[in-house]
Amino acid sequence: MESRRILIINGHPDAAPTRLCAALAEAYARGALACGHQVRRVCLGSLDVPLLASQAEFDTAPPAHIAAIQADLSWAEHLVLVFPLWLGGAPAKLKALLEQLMRRGFGFQSDTKGMSARLTGRSARLIVTMGMPAAMYRLYFGAQGVMSVERGILRLTGMKPVRDTFFGGVDTAGPARLRGWLDRVEKLGAQGD
Ligand SMILES: Cc1cc2nc3c(=O)[nH]c(=O)nc-3n(C[C@H](O)[C@H](O)[C@H](O)COP(=O)(O)O)c2cc1C
Repeated sequence: MESRRILIINGHPDAAPTRLCAALAEAYARGALACGHQVRRVCLGSLDVPLLASQAEFDTAPPAHIAAIQADLSWAEHLVLVFPLWLGGAPAKLKALLEQLMRRGFGFQSDTKGMSARLTGRSARLIVTMGMPAAMYRLYFGAQGVMSVERGILRLTGMKPVRDTFFGGVDTAGPARLRGWLDRVEKLGAQGD
């Protein structure tokens, strides 16, 4: 298998290593590194992410620590985004990071002729944990909050394919179920997927 350049973002606002999202990001990295993929990692919980407040800000370059993550994303062939479902979607701090990262000129370019994607040639996987059963989120809620990240942000910037993996019922999952999820994610890492 060809080695891939992979950026893993643990998109949990809480940097505690005891969170399930931290364990899943770790499992993905373990699998990827064991199979020769190159890995860079970002932990949202350890970052200072200012809220983007104006069109003028969106149209200019971000602060240096956000620009460094843009550079990681430019380097990467595959983005892995791990986050918990909070009130039906991505936690506000993760949305804030995505707004910072995908400023005009980086994620996409728009001019009088329309919009052009600037992150083509990259794929992505979202790994989302949630309290409710995953099937309920997909079927009853249409996974709308996650789709807004998949379609409204990542696909808009040209990433393709964008795949997702949902783990539901996390707050009551026993050790065997958790182990199974970590193994599954480690395998995704090994496949660079
Ligand atoms: C602020 C907050 C909002 C939440 N909203 C939802 C929700 O809308 N739907 C759901 O199924 N679970 C919800 N949960 C449960 C979390 O998704 C769950 O605890 C988390 O995925 C566990 O992963 P972690 O150990 O990495 O935090 C919420 C939890 C918190 C703290």
